[in-house]
Amino acid sequence: MRSIIDVLDLTVQELEELLAIANDIIENPAKYAKICEGKKLATLFFEPSTRTRMSFEAAMYELGGNVLSMSNAASSSAAKGESVADTAKTISCYADIIAMRHPKEGAPLVAAMNATIPVINAGDGGHNHPTQTLADLLTIKREKGGFDNLTVGLCGDLKFGRTVHSLINALSRYSGIKFVLISPEELKLPSYVKKDVIQKNNLEYVQTTDLESVMPELDILYMTRVQRERFFNEADYLRLKDSYILTPEKLKNAKDDLCIMHPLPRVNEISVAIDDDKRACYFKQVLNGKYMRMALILKLLEVL
Ligand code: CP
Repeated sequence: MRSIIDVLDLTVQELEELLAIANDIIENPAKYAKICEGKKLATLFFEPSTRTRMSFEAAMYELGGNVLSMSNAASSSAAKGESVADTAKTISCYADIIAMRHPKEGAPLVAAMNATIPVINAGDGGHNHPTQTLADLLTIKREKGGFDNLTVGLCGDLKFGRTVHSLINALSRYSGIKFVLISPEELKLPSYVKKDVIQKNNLEYVQTTDLESVMPELDILYMTRVQRERFFNEADYLRLKDSYILTPEKLKNAKDDLCIMHPLPRVNEISVAIDDDKRACYFKQVLNGKYMRMALILKLLEVL
């Protein structure tokens, strides 16, 4: 029994295997339509979600399995004070695998330590979001053919943006990667990610507040939302929320094959006028997330 709490729980070889399975699912969906018959996925979401929960559930249905869904902490016994550990032990009696989102960093790890079935971290506080990274990696692989030698711009809330932290961890294992970290001073990448991942792996990086000046060198531009729910102070959020708004004008000097990504939900960070640009990849990420979650469920349930 194995859980996935951090994207680094997967070796590069295992990541490549998941990418290959996801591509096979895309090409041969009928082959997988009944493979999880009789299995149940429990989605335990203690924080709001549209994509992650719905794509996990769609993934399990498309594999022929069933879903037990908890979309709201207020309607569970967590509201009466039940611990994450007891919740995990309880759900282990009903389901075969858990996908958990929680506002507290480390909660899915606690669940994994107490469950008797695999637990997948579906986002924990400002920490990690490994299955979003799986969606991101499949998108980059399909758009760029691979991961080596890419210049990756990460823009917006790099402090609280858990998708950014997970993506940097994943890409740090490939060669020739350069990170361009674009954020307001107050929302810079935490030093534990910069020191323990980027610097430790001797990766090239630059930090800037100016998106337009670095635009011409980017192969990937990963926009992020300023994470209102992680701020202690509403005035700070209001001051910073529109720090970066990507418009067609700002793409004037961008590469023709730039891949524009965003984990979504978007608030104001990308103008809807960009949605029809061939470089916009964010809705491809949404779909790719379902295929990668299908691949991950198959591997953790050991049905492949
Ligand atoms: N990308 C992402 O995690 O979206 P949701 O919050 O809608 O699940």
